[in-house]
Amino acid sequence: MEQFENPIRRSLAAHTSLPEEQIRLEVPRDAALGDLAFPCFTLAKTLRKAPPVIAAELAEAVGGELEGIAAAATGPYVNFTVERGLLARSVIAKVTAEGERYGHCELGGGETIVIDLSSPNIAKPMSVGHLRSTVIGAAVQRILDALGYRTLAINHIGDWGSQFGKLVAAIDRWGDSVEMETDPIRALLALYVRYHEEEAEDPSLAEEARRCFQELESGIDGPVRARWKRITALSLGEFDKIYARLGVSFQLVRGEAYFEPMLDETVERIEAAGITEVSEGALIVDLSEIAEGIPPCLLRKSDGTTLYATRDMAALFHRWEEYTFQRCLYVVGADQKLHFRQLKAVLERMGLDWEPRVEHVWFGMLRLPEGKMSTRKGRVVFLEEVLDRARDEALAIIEEKNPDLPGAAEIAEQVGVGAVVFNDLKRERIKDIEFEWDEVLSFEGETGPYVQYTHARLASILRRAEAADEGGANPDFSALADAAGVLLRIARFPAVLRSAGAHAEPSEVTTWVLGLCREVNGWYTQHRVLGQEPALTAARLALVGVAATAIARGLAILGLAAPREM
Ligand code: ARG
Repeated sequence: MEQFENPIRRSLAAHTSLPEEQIRLEVPRDAALGDLAFPCFTLAKTLRKAPPVIAAELAEAVGGELEGIAAAATGPYVNFTVERGLLARSVIAKVTAEGERYGHCELGGGETIVIDLSSPNIAKPMSVGHLRSTVIGAAVQRILDALGYRTLAINHIGDWGSQFGKLVAAIDRWGDSVEMETDPIRALLALYVRYHEEEAEDPSLAEEARRCFQELESGIDGPVRARWKRITALSLGEFDKIYARLGVSFQLVRGEAYFEPMLDETVERIEAAGITEVSEGALIVDLSEIAEGIPPCLLRKSDGTTLYATRDMAALFHRWEEYTFQRCLYVVGADQKLHFRQLKAVLERMGLDWEPRVEHVWFGMLRLPEGKMSTRKGRVVFLEEVLDRARDEALAIIEEKNPDLPGAAEIAEQVGVGAVVFNDLKRERIKDIEFEWDEVLSFEGETGPYVQYTHARLASILRRAEAADEGGANPDFSALADAAGVLLRIARFPAVLRSAGAHAEPSEVTTWVLGLCREVNGWYTQHRVLGQEPALTAARLALVGVAATAIARGLAILGLAAPREM
Protein backbone atom coordinates (compact mmCIF):
# COMPACT_ATOMS: atom_id res chain seq x y z
CA MET A 1 0.00 0.00 0.00
CA GLU A 2 2.98 2.36 0.37
CA GLN A 3 2.62 3.43 -3.22
CA PHE A 4 -0.73 4.94 -2.23
CA GLU A 5 -0.01 5.79 1.38
CA ASN A 6 2.96 7.98 0.63
CA PRO A 7 1.15 10.52 -1.58
CA ILE A 8 -1.78 10.53 0.84
CA ARG A 9 0.52 11.26 3.78
CA ARG A 10 2.31 13.98 1.84
CA SER A 11 -0.92 15.65 0.94
CA LEU A 12 -2.36 15.39 4.45
CA ALA A 13 0.83 16.80 5.91
CA ALA A 14 0.62 19.79 3.61
CA HIS A 15 -2.87 20.58 4.86
CA THR A 16 -2.31 19.92 8.56
CA SER A 17 0.36 20.77 11.10
CA LEU A 18 1.39 17.13 11.28
CA PRO A 19 4.74 15.85 10.01
CA GLU A 20 4.36 13.07 7.42
CA GLU A 21 5.77 10.32 9.62
CA GLN A 22 3.17 11.03 12.29
CA ILE A 23 0.24 10.51 9.97
CA ARG A 24 -1.29 7.15 10.75
CA LEU A 25 -3.44 5.54 8.15
CA GLU A 26 -5.78 2.75 9.12
CA VAL A 27 -7.75 0.09 7.34
CA PRO A 28 -11.43 1.15 7.50
CA ARG A 29 -13.56 -1.26 9.49
CA ASP A 30 -16.05 -1.42 6.66
CA ALA A 31 -14.31 -2.12 3.35
CA ALA A 32 -17.14 -0.35 1.51
CA LEU A 33 -16.01 2.96 3.02
CA GLY A 34 -12.59 2.90 1.41
CA ASP A 35 -9.17 1.30 1.30
CA LEU A 36 -7.45 3.57 3.82
CA ALA A 37 -8.71 5.90 6.51
CA PHE A 38 -7.28 8.87 8.35
CA PRO A 39 -8.82 9.47 11.78
CA CYS A 40 -9.02 13.16 12.63
CA PHE A 41 -9.35 12.92 16.42
CA THR A 42 -5.81 13.93 17.26
CA LEU A 43 -6.15 17.17 15.30
CA ALA A 44 -9.24 18.32 17.21
CA LYS A 45 -7.28 19.83 20.06
CA THR A 46 -4.86 21.94 18.05
CA LEU A 47 -7.42 23.01 15.45
CA ARG A 48 -10.19 23.56 18.03
CA LYS A 49 -12.75 22.01 15.73
CA ALA A 50 -14.84 18.88 15.91
CA PRO A 51 -13.26 15.86 14.14
CA PRO A 52 -16.12 15.50 11.58
CA VAL A 53 -15.64 19.13 10.58
CA ILE A 54 -11.91 18.59 10.15
CA ALA A 55 -12.55 15.40 8.16
CA ALA A 56 -14.91 17.20 5.79
CA GLU A 57 -12.48 20.08 5.22
CA LEU A 58 -9.52 17.79 4.69
CA ALA A 59 -11.41 15.54 2.27
CA GLU A 60 -12.26 18.60 0.24
CA ALA A 61 -8.70 20.00 0.28
CA VAL A 62 -6.87 16.73 -0.33
CA GLY A 63 -9.33 15.17 -2.73
CA GLY A 64 -8.45 17.23 -5.74
CA GLU A 65 -4.70 16.74 -5.39
CA LEU A 66 -4.47 12.97 -5.35
CA GLU A 67 -4.24 11.32 -8.69
CA GLY A 68 -6.35 8.20 -8.91
CA ILE A 69 -7.30 8.31 -5.21
CA ALA A 70 -10.70 9.61 -4.10
CA ALA A 71 -11.15 11.16 -0.66
CA ALA A 72 -14.46 11.37 1.22
CA ALA A 73 -15.34 12.15 4.81
CA THR A 74 -17.40 9.78 6.90
CA GLY A 75 -17.86 11.09 10.42
CA PRO A 76 -14.45 11.80 11.96
CA TYR A 77 -12.56 9.91 9.20
CA VAL A 78 -11.26 10.81 5.81
CA ASN A 79 -11.59 7.67 3.72
CA PHE A 80 -9.52 7.06 0.64
CA THR A 81 -10.37 4.80 -2.25
CA VAL A 82 -7.86 3.92 -4.92
CA GLU A 83 -9.23 3.87 -8.43
CA ARG A 84 -9.62 0.16 -9.30
CA GLY A 85 -7.67 0.15 -12.54
CA LEU A 86 -4.77 1.94 -10.85
CA LEU A 87 -4.93 -0.46 -7.88
CA ALA A 88 -4.73 -3.49 -10.16
CA ARG A 89 -2.00 -2.07 -12.39
CA SER A 90 0.26 -0.95 -9.57
CA VAL A 91 -0.13 -4.02 -7.33
CA ILE A 92 0.42 -6.39 -10.23
CA ALA A 93 3.45 -4.41 -11.41
CA LYS A 94 5.01 -4.40 -7.95
CA VAL A 95 4.53 -8.11 -7.24
CA THR A 96 5.68 -9.04 -10.73
CA ALA A 97 8.81 -6.93 -10.36
CA GLU A 98 9.69 -8.18 -6.87
CA GLY A 99 8.68 -11.82 -7.42
CA GLU A 100 10.07 -14.09 -4.73
CA ARG A 101 11.34 -11.09 -2.83
CA TYR A 102 7.93 -9.46 -2.67
CA GLY A 103 7.66 -7.42 0.53
CA HIS A 104 11.39 -7.16 1.05
CA CYS A 105 12.60 -3.82 2.40
CA GLU A 106 15.65 -2.23 3.95
CA LEU A 107 14.03 -1.11 7.18
CA GLY A 108 16.62 -2.99 9.25
CA GLY A 109 19.55 -1.34 7.52
CA GLY A 110 21.70 -4.38 8.26
CA GLU A 111 21.40 -4.00 12.06
CA THR A 112 21.94 -7.26 13.92
CA ILE A 113 19.18 -9.20 15.60
CA VAL A 114 20.13 -12.30 17.55
CA ILE A 115 17.50 -15.05 17.77
CA ASP A 116 17.96 -17.74 20.39
CA LEU A 117 15.77 -20.60 19.25
CA SER A 118 15.15 -24.33 19.41
CA SER A 119 17.83 -24.99 22.08
CA PRO A 120 16.90 -28.57 22.98
CA ASN A 121 18.61 -30.52 25.69
CA ILE A 122 21.15 -33.09 24.60
CA ALA A 123 20.53 -36.79 25.15
CA LYS A 124 16.79 -36.33 25.37
CA PRO A 125 14.19 -36.41 22.64
CA MET A 126 13.38 -32.97 21.36
CA SER A 127 10.18 -31.87 23.06
CA VAL A 128 7.11 -30.33 21.55
CA GLY A 129 8.17 -27.08 23.23
CA HIS A 130 11.45 -27.16 21.35
CA LEU A 131 9.53 -27.79 18.14
CA ARG A 132 7.45 -24.68 18.76
CA SER A 133 10.57 -22.67 19.54
CA THR A 134 12.21 -23.90 16.33
CA VAL A 135 9.21 -23.19 14.12
CA ILE A 136 8.37 -19.79 15.63
CA GLY A 137 12.00 -18.72 15.86
CA ALA A 138 12.74 -19.66 12.26
CA ALA A 139 9.65 -17.80 11.02
CA VAL A 140 10.64 -14.72 13.03
CA GLN A 141 14.08 -14.93 11.47
CA ARG A 142 12.68 -15.09 7.93
CA ILE A 143 10.42 -12.12 8.66
CA LEU A 144 13.32 -10.06 10.00
CA ASP A 145 15.52 -11.10 7.08
CA ALA A 146 12.87 -9.79 4.72
CA LEU A 147 12.92 -6.50 6.59
CA GLY A 148 16.62 -6.05 5.94
CA TYR A 149 18.09 -7.02 9.30
CA ARG A 150 21.16 -9.15 9.69
CA THR A 151 19.85 -12.02 11.73
CA LEU A 152 21.78 -14.61 13.68
CA ALA A 153 20.00 -17.78 14.66
CA ILE A 154 21.68 -19.36 17.65
CA ASN A 155 20.90 -22.85 18.88
CA HIS A 156 21.77 -22.61 22.57
CA ILE A 157 21.70 -26.32 23.19
CA GLY A 158 21.44 -27.67 26.71
CA ASP A 159 24.66 -29.65 26.82
CA TRP A 160 25.71 -29.00 30.39
CA GLY A 161 24.55 -30.02 33.82
CA SER A 162 24.87 -32.80 36.35
CA GLN A 163 22.75 -35.21 34.29
CA PHE A 164 25.71 -35.60 31.93
CA GLY A 165 27.67 -37.07 34.83
CA LYS A 166 25.02 -39.79 35.04
CA LEU A 167 25.09 -40.49 31.34
CA VAL A 168 28.84 -40.73 31.18
CA ALA A 169 28.86 -43.01 34.23
CA ALA A 170 26.10 -45.13 32.69
CA ILE A 171 28.07 -45.64 29.50
CA ASP A 172 31.11 -46.52 31.61
CA ARG A 173 29.13 -49.07 33.54
CA TRP A 174 27.01 -50.74 30.89
CA GLY A 175 29.02 -49.96 27.86
CA ASP A 176 28.08 -48.78 24.46
CA SER A 177 25.28 -50.49 22.62
CA VAL A 178 24.48 -50.92 18.99
CA GLU A 179 21.45 -48.66 19.42
CA MET A 180 23.77 -45.89 20.42
CA GLU A 181 24.66 -45.60 16.74
CA THR A 182 21.32 -46.49 15.20
CA ASP A 183 18.93 -44.84 17.61
CA PRO A 184 21.05 -42.76 19.99
CA ILE A 185 18.35 -40.72 21.69
CA ARG A 186 16.33 -43.79 22.65
CA ALA A 187 19.52 -45.54 23.81
CA LEU A 188 20.61 -42.55 25.89
CA LEU A 189 17.16 -42.16 27.36
CA ALA A 190 17.14 -45.84 28.34
CA LEU A 191 20.56 -45.48 29.97
CA TYR A 192 19.42 -42.45 31.86
CA VAL A 193 16.24 -44.09 33.14
CA ARG A 194 18.16 -47.23 34.15
CA TYR A 195 20.81 -45.21 35.96
CA HIS A 196 18.14 -43.31 37.79
CA GLU A 197 16.46 -46.53 38.90
CA GLU A 198 19.60 -48.36 40.03
CA GLU A 199 20.88 -45.27 41.79
CA ALA A 200 17.94 -45.53 44.14
CA GLU A 201 19.15 -48.99 45.24
CA ASP A 202 22.86 -48.30 45.19
CA PRO A 203 24.04 -44.85 46.33
CA SER A 204 27.52 -45.43 44.95
CA LEU A 205 26.07 -44.69 41.51
CA ALA A 206 25.17 -41.18 42.55
CA GLU A 207 28.71 -40.72 43.82
CA GLU A 208 30.13 -42.01 40.54
CA ALA A 209 27.93 -39.64 38.52
CA ARG A 210 29.04 -36.71 40.65
CA ARG A 211 32.67 -37.61 40.12
CA CYS A 212 32.14 -37.74 36.37
CA PHE A 213 30.48 -34.35 36.25
CA GLN A 214 33.21 -32.88 38.42
CA GLU A 215 35.81 -34.15 36.00
CA LEU A 216 33.79 -32.67 33.13
CA GLU A 217 33.59 -29.29 34.87
CA SER A 218 37.30 -29.35 35.69
CA GLY A 219 37.98 -29.12 31.97
CA ILE A 220 40.26 -32.19 31.90
CA ASP A 221 40.35 -33.49 28.37
CA GLY A 222 40.13 -37.17 29.27
CA PRO A 223 37.78 -40.10 28.71
CA VAL A 224 34.87 -38.39 30.49
CA ARG A 225 35.01 -35.41 28.17
CA ALA A 226 35.34 -37.73 25.19
CA ARG A 227 32.14 -39.53 26.19
CA TRP A 228 30.32 -36.24 26.70
CA LYS A 229 31.44 -35.08 23.26
CA ARG A 230 30.18 -38.30 21.75
CA ILE A 231 26.79 -37.93 23.44
CA THR A 232 26.55 -34.38 22.13
CA ALA A 233 27.49 -35.31 18.59
CA LEU A 234 25.07 -38.24 18.47
CA SER A 235 22.20 -36.14 19.79
CA LEU A 236 22.86 -33.28 17.40
CA GLY A 237 22.89 -35.77 14.56
CA GLU A 238 19.37 -36.80 15.54
CA PHE A 239 18.15 -33.23 15.96
CA ASP A 240 19.55 -32.38 12.55
CA LYS A 241 17.16 -34.87 10.97
CA ILE A 242 14.25 -32.86 12.32
CA TYR A 243 15.82 -29.54 11.38
CA ALA A 244 16.31 -30.80 7.83
CA ARG A 245 12.65 -31.74 7.56
CA LEU A 246 11.62 -28.34 8.86
CA GLY A 247 14.08 -26.58 6.56
CA VAL A 248 15.70 -24.85 9.53
CA SER A 249 19.37 -24.08 9.98
CA PHE A 250 21.39 -22.04 12.43
CA GLN A 251 24.21 -19.57 12.06
CA LEU A 252 25.61 -20.82 15.35
CA VAL A 253 25.15 -23.99 17.35
CA ARG A 254 26.63 -22.92 20.63
CA GLY A 255 25.59 -24.81 23.70
CA GLU A 256 25.79 -23.93 27.34
CA ALA A 257 29.13 -25.74 27.65
CA TYR A 258 30.73 -23.17 25.37
CA PHE A 259 30.37 -20.64 28.18
CA GLU A 260 31.94 -22.82 30.89
CA PRO A 261 35.32 -21.07 30.67
CA MET A 262 33.65 -17.65 30.95
CA LEU A 263 31.63 -18.27 34.07
CA ASP A 264 34.17 -16.94 36.58
CA GLU A 265 34.57 -13.66 34.77
CA THR A 266 30.81 -13.40 34.34
CA VAL A 267 30.24 -13.76 38.06
CA GLU A 268 33.09 -11.31 38.78
CA ARG A 269 31.57 -8.79 36.44
CA ILE A 270 28.24 -8.91 38.22
CA GLU A 271 30.01 -8.77 41.59
CA ALA A 272 31.96 -5.72 40.42
CA ALA A 273 28.68 -3.93 39.85
CA GLY A 274 28.19 -4.22 43.60
CA ILE A 275 24.83 -5.90 43.41
CA THR A 276 25.60 -9.41 44.65
CA GLU A 277 25.22 -10.77 48.14
CA VAL A 278 25.80 -14.08 49.88
CA SER A 279 22.71 -15.78 51.17
CA GLU A 280 22.94 -19.14 52.91
CA GLY A 281 26.30 -19.67 51.29
CA ALA A 282 25.00 -18.98 47.75
CA LEU A 283 25.82 -15.96 45.63
CA ILE A 284 22.67 -14.12 44.60
CA VAL A 285 21.44 -10.86 43.11
CA ASP A 286 18.51 -9.41 44.99
CA LEU A 287 15.91 -8.15 42.54
CA SER A 288 13.19 -6.90 44.86
CA GLU A 289 13.96 -3.29 44.03
CA ILE A 290 13.27 -3.96 40.34
CA ALA A 291 9.91 -5.61 40.90
CA GLU A 292 8.14 -6.63 44.01
CA GLY A 293 8.01 -10.33 44.67
CA ILE A 294 10.55 -11.36 42.06
CA PRO A 295 12.90 -13.92 43.61
CA PRO A 296 16.66 -13.33 43.58
CA CYS A 297 18.81 -14.56 40.71
CA LEU A 298 21.05 -17.37 41.88
CA LEU A 299 24.54 -17.18 40.34
CA ARG A 300 26.48 -19.74 42.34
CA LYS A 301 25.22 -22.42 44.67
CA SER A 302 26.76 -22.96 48.09
CA ASP A 303 28.74 -25.92 46.71
CA GLY A 304 30.37 -23.57 44.20
CA THR A 305 28.58 -24.85 41.09
CA THR A 306 26.97 -22.46 38.63
CA LEU A 307 23.51 -22.58 37.13
CA TYR A 308 21.51 -22.28 33.93
CA ALA A 309 21.09 -18.57 34.70
CA THR A 310 24.83 -18.08 35.17
CA ARG A 311 25.49 -19.62 31.78
CA ASP A 312 22.75 -17.50 30.21
CA MET A 313 24.28 -14.34 31.69
CA ALA A 314 27.64 -15.33 30.23
CA ALA A 315 26.06 -16.00 26.84
CA LEU A 316 24.24 -12.68 26.89
CA PHE A 317 27.34 -10.62 27.70
CA HIS A 318 29.22 -12.52 25.06
CA ARG A 319 26.54 -11.83 22.45
CA TRP A 320 26.42 -8.17 23.33
CA GLU A 321 30.18 -7.82 23.05
CA GLU A 322 30.35 -9.79 19.84
CA TYR A 323 27.38 -8.32 17.98
CA THR A 324 26.09 -5.13 19.67
CA PHE A 325 22.66 -6.44 18.70
CA GLN A 326 19.67 -4.22 18.16
CA ARG A 327 17.50 -6.94 19.63
CA CYS A 328 18.23 -10.27 21.25
CA LEU A 329 15.16 -12.47 21.06
CA TYR A 330 14.73 -15.57 23.20
CA VAL A 331 12.13 -17.82 21.64
CA VAL A 332 11.41 -19.91 24.70
CA GLY A 333 8.21 -21.22 26.29
CA ALA A 334 6.09 -19.37 28.82
CA ASP A 335 7.38 -21.64 31.59
CA GLN A 336 10.66 -19.71 31.54
CA LYS A 337 9.13 -16.26 31.98
CA LEU A 338 10.60 -15.85 35.43
CA HIS A 339 14.06 -16.88 34.24
CA PHE A 340 14.14 -14.19 31.55
CA ARG A 341 12.62 -11.58 33.84
CA GLN A 342 15.45 -12.29 36.22
CA LEU A 343 18.09 -12.02 33.50
CA LYS A 344 16.71 -8.67 32.45
CA ALA A 345 16.39 -7.50 36.03
CA VAL A 346 20.08 -8.29 36.65
CA LEU A 347 20.99 -6.18 33.60
CA GLU A 348 18.81 -3.42 34.94
CA ARG A 349 20.45 -3.55 38.34
CA MET A 350 23.82 -3.38 36.60
CA GLY A 351 22.60 -0.19 34.95
CA LEU A 352 23.13 -1.52 31.42
CA ASP A 353 21.16 0.65 29.04
CA TRP A 354 20.80 -2.11 26.44
CA GLU A 355 18.55 -4.13 28.73
CA PRO A 356 15.36 -3.25 26.75
CA ARG A 357 16.90 -4.85 23.65
CA VAL A 358 16.63 -8.24 25.32
CA GLU A 359 13.18 -9.77 24.73
CA HIS A 360 11.63 -12.99 25.84
CA VAL A 361 9.52 -14.05 22.88
CA TRP A 362 7.43 -16.53 24.81
CA PHE A 363 4.81 -18.94 23.60
CA GLY A 364 2.08 -21.16 24.99
CA MET A 365 1.94 -24.91 25.24
CA LEU A 366 1.06 -27.31 22.47
CA ARG A 367 -0.68 -30.41 23.68
CA LEU A 368 -0.42 -33.46 21.48
CA PRO A 369 -3.06 -36.15 21.92
CA GLU A 370 -0.14 -38.60 22.35
CA GLY A 371 1.33 -36.33 24.97
CA LYS A 372 -1.48 -37.05 27.34
CA MET A 373 -0.25 -40.56 27.92
CA SER A 374 3.40 -39.69 28.08
CA THR A 375 3.80 -38.72 31.67
CA ARG A 376 5.26 -41.98 32.89
CA LYS A 377 8.98 -42.28 33.04
CA GLY A 378 10.63 -42.90 29.73
CA ARG A 379 7.36 -42.58 27.82
CA VAL A 380 7.88 -39.68 25.51
CA VAL A 381 6.60 -38.38 22.23
CA PHE A 382 9.15 -38.52 19.45
CA LEU A 383 8.70 -35.58 17.12
CA GLU A 384 9.96 -37.64 14.25
CA GLU A 385 6.97 -39.91 14.73
CA VAL A 386 4.61 -36.95 14.74
CA LEU A 387 6.10 -35.71 11.46
CA ASP A 388 5.99 -39.22 9.99
CA ARG A 389 2.35 -39.61 10.87
CA ALA A 390 1.53 -36.20 9.38
CA ARG A 391 3.34 -37.21 6.18
CA ASP A 392 1.59 -40.58 5.99
CA GLU A 393 -1.85 -39.12 6.55
CA ALA A 394 -1.19 -36.40 3.99
CA LEU A 395 -0.17 -39.09 1.53
CA ALA A 396 -3.41 -40.98 2.14
CA ILE A 397 -5.44 -37.83 1.47
CA ILE A 398 -3.45 -37.00 -1.66
CA GLU A 399 -3.75 -40.54 -3.02
CA GLU A 400 -7.48 -40.31 -2.62
CA LYS A 401 -7.85 -36.88 -4.18
CA ASN A 402 -5.24 -37.13 -6.88
CA PRO A 403 -4.10 -40.73 -7.46
CA ASP A 404 -1.87 -39.93 -10.44
CA LEU A 405 0.08 -37.10 -8.84
CA PRO A 406 3.74 -37.35 -9.85
CA GLY A 407 6.15 -37.08 -6.91
CA ALA A 408 3.36 -37.75 -4.42
CA ALA A 409 5.74 -38.92 -1.68
CA GLU A 410 7.71 -35.70 -1.70
CA ILE A 411 4.59 -33.57 -1.81
CA ALA A 412 3.10 -35.54 1.08
CA GLU A 413 6.17 -34.68 3.13
CA GLN A 414 5.74 -30.98 2.26
CA VAL A 415 2.05 -31.05 3.09
CA GLY A 416 2.35 -33.15 6.24
CA VAL A 417 5.26 -31.29 7.78
CA GLY A 418 3.77 -28.01 6.56
CA ALA A 419 0.50 -28.82 8.32
CA VAL A 420 2.28 -29.28 11.64
CA VAL A 421 4.29 -26.08 11.16
CA PHE A 422 1.31 -23.99 10.11
CA ASN A 423 -0.71 -25.23 13.06
CA ASP A 424 2.07 -23.97 15.32
CA LEU A 425 2.01 -20.52 13.78
CA LYS A 426 -1.62 -19.83 13.15
CA ARG A 427 -2.59 -18.41 16.52
CA GLU A 428 -0.97 -15.68 18.52
CA ARG A 429 2.08 -17.40 19.91
CA ILE A 430 1.15 -16.80 23.54
CA LYS A 431 -1.91 -19.01 23.17
CA ASP A 432 -1.93 -22.68 24.11
CA ILE A 433 -2.79 -25.10 21.30
CA GLU A 434 -4.70 -28.35 21.41
CA PHE A 435 -3.33 -30.45 18.60
CA GLU A 436 -6.14 -32.30 16.77
CA TRP A 437 -4.97 -34.55 13.98
CA ASP A 438 -8.03 -34.15 11.76
CA GLU A 439 -8.05 -30.41 12.07
CA VAL A 440 -4.34 -29.95 11.39
CA LEU A 441 -4.40 -31.93 8.15
CA SER A 442 -7.72 -30.74 6.79
CA PHE A 443 -7.72 -29.22 3.32
CA GLU A 444 -10.39 -26.80 4.46
CA GLY A 445 -10.33 -24.33 7.31
CA GLU A 446 -7.39 -22.50 8.75
CA THR A 447 -4.69 -24.98 7.86
CA GLY A 448 -1.43 -25.28 5.99
CA PRO A 449 -2.90 -27.76 3.47
CA TYR A 450 -5.72 -25.30 2.72
CA VAL A 451 -3.24 -22.54 1.88
CA GLN A 452 -1.04 -24.90 -0.12
CA TYR A 453 -4.07 -26.22 -1.96
CA THR A 454 -5.24 -22.73 -2.84
CA HIS A 455 -1.81 -22.03 -4.25
CA ALA A 456 -1.80 -25.28 -6.23
CA ARG A 457 -5.19 -24.44 -7.74
CA LEU A 458 -3.86 -21.10 -8.95
CA ALA A 459 -0.79 -22.80 -10.33
CA SER A 460 -3.00 -25.20 -12.22
CA ILE A 461 -4.91 -22.32 -13.86
CA LEU A 462 -1.58 -20.85 -14.96
CA ARG A 463 -0.52 -24.21 -16.37
CA ARG A 464 -3.74 -24.61 -18.30
CA ALA A 465 -3.46 -21.08 -19.66
CA GLU A 466 0.02 -21.84 -20.90
CA ALA A 467 -1.10 -25.07 -22.52
CA ALA A 468 -3.98 -23.26 -24.25
CA ASP A 469 -1.69 -20.36 -25.12
CA GLU A 470 -3.98 -17.86 -23.43
CA GLY A 471 -3.11 -14.65 -21.63
CA GLY A 472 -0.88 -13.10 -24.25
CA ALA A 473 -3.15 -10.11 -24.90
CA ASN A 474 -2.77 -6.67 -23.41
CA PRO A 475 -4.52 -6.93 -20.03
CA ASP A 476 -7.49 -4.71 -19.29
CA PHE A 477 -6.77 -3.83 -15.66
CA SER A 478 -9.92 -1.81 -15.27
CA ALA A 479 -11.78 -5.13 -15.54
CA LEU A 480 -10.35 -6.20 -12.19
CA ALA A 481 -12.59 -3.93 -10.11
CA ASP A 482 -14.28 -7.06 -8.76
CA ALA A 483 -10.94 -8.35 -7.47
CA ALA A 484 -10.19 -5.33 -5.28
CA GLY A 485 -10.43 -7.51 -2.14
CA VAL A 486 -7.68 -9.79 -3.42
CA LEU A 487 -5.51 -6.91 -4.59
CA LEU A 488 -5.81 -4.97 -1.35
CA ARG A 489 -4.82 -8.05 0.66
CA ILE A 490 -1.78 -8.57 -1.51
CA ALA A 491 -0.88 -4.90 -1.21
CA ARG A 492 -0.93 -5.05 2.59
CA PHE A 493 1.75 -7.73 2.82
CA PRO A 494 4.74 -5.40 3.32
CA ALA A 495 2.99 -3.67 6.23
CA VAL A 496 2.05 -7.08 7.69
CA LEU A 497 5.71 -8.10 7.60
CA ARG A 498 6.77 -4.93 9.39
CA SER A 499 4.22 -5.40 12.12
CA ALA A 500 4.99 -9.12 12.48
CA GLY A 501 8.68 -8.29 12.80
CA ALA A 502 8.12 -5.63 15.45
CA HIS A 503 5.99 -8.01 17.51
CA ALA A 504 7.98 -11.15 16.69
CA GLU A 505 4.59 -12.58 15.79
CA PRO A 506 4.44 -14.98 12.81
CA SER A 507 0.68 -15.39 13.30
CA GLU A 508 0.23 -12.00 11.68
CA VAL A 509 1.57 -13.58 8.50
CA THR A 510 -0.62 -16.70 8.84
CA THR A 511 -3.68 -14.51 9.39
CA TRP A 512 -2.76 -12.48 6.33
CA VAL A 513 -2.22 -15.50 4.09
CA LEU A 514 -5.44 -17.16 5.26
CA GLY A 515 -7.34 -13.95 4.51
CA LEU A 516 -5.78 -13.77 1.08
CA CYS A 517 -6.75 -17.37 0.36
CA ARG A 518 -10.33 -16.69 1.41
CA GLU A 519 -10.47 -13.66 -0.90
CA VAL A 520 -8.93 -15.55 -3.78
CA ASN A 521 -11.22 -18.55 -3.41
CA GLY A 522 -14.26 -16.30 -3.09
CA TRP A 523 -13.32 -14.43 -6.24
CA TYR A 524 -12.47 -17.59 -8.13
CA THR A 525 -15.82 -19.28 -7.51
CA GLN A 526 -17.51 -16.29 -9.18
CA HIS A 527 -15.23 -15.64 -12.12
CA ARG A 528 -13.91 -17.67 -14.99
CA VAL A 529 -10.37 -16.95 -15.98
CA LEU A 530 -9.77 -18.84 -19.22
CA GLY A 531 -11.70 -18.48 -22.44
CA GLN A 532 -12.89 -14.88 -21.91
CA GLU A 533 -12.28 -11.82 -24.03
CA PRO A 534 -8.47 -11.89 -24.52
CA ALA A 535 -7.94 -8.60 -22.61
CA LEU A 536 -10.08 -9.87 -19.72
CA THR A 537 -8.44 -13.29 -19.58
CA ALA A 538 -5.03 -11.60 -19.62
CA ALA A 539 -5.99 -9.36 -16.70
CA ARG A 540 -7.47 -12.22 -14.69
CA LEU A 541 -4.44 -14.39 -15.38
CA ALA A 542 -2.17 -11.60 -14.21
CA LEU A 543 -4.19 -11.47 -11.00
CA VAL A 544 -3.97 -15.25 -10.56
CA GLY A 545 -0.22 -15.04 -11.15
CA VAL A 546 0.45 -12.40 -8.49
CA ALA A 547 -1.92 -14.07 -6.02
CA ALA A 548 0.03 -17.31 -6.44
CA THR A 549 3.31 -15.45 -5.96
CA ALA A 550 2.03 -13.71 -2.84
CA ILE A 551 0.70 -16.91 -1.28
CA ALA A 552 3.94 -18.75 -2.03
CA ARG A 553 5.84 -15.87 -0.47
CA GLY A 554 3.73 -16.05 2.68
CA LEU A 555 4.23 -19.82 2.86
CA ALA A 556 7.99 -19.43 2.40
CA ILE A 557 8.20 -16.90 5.22
CA LEU A 558 6.36 -19.34 7.47
CA GLY A 559 8.61 -22.21 6.44
CA LEU A 560 6.20 -24.15 4.22
CA ALA A 561 6.75 -25.35 0.70
CA ALA A 562 4.33 -24.27 -2.02
CA PRO A 563 3.86 -27.33 -4.24
CA ARG A 564 2.47 -26.47 -7.66
CA GLU A 565 0.34 -29.56 -7.70
CA MET A 566 -1.19 -31.64 -4.94
N1 ARG B 1 17.63 -25.79 26.87
C1 ARG B 1 16.59 -24.99 27.47
C2 ARG B 1 15.39 -25.86 27.76
O1 ARG B 1 15.17 -26.83 27.09
C3 ARG B 1 16.16 -23.84 26.60
C4 ARG B 1 17.22 -22.83 26.36
C5 ARG B 1 16.67 -21.54 25.84
N2 ARG B 1 17.71 -20.57 25.60
C6 ARG B 1 18.35 -19.92 26.55
N3 ARG B 1 19.31 -19.10 26.17
N4 ARG B 1 18.11 -20.09 27.81
O2 ARG B 1 14.63 -25.56 28.66
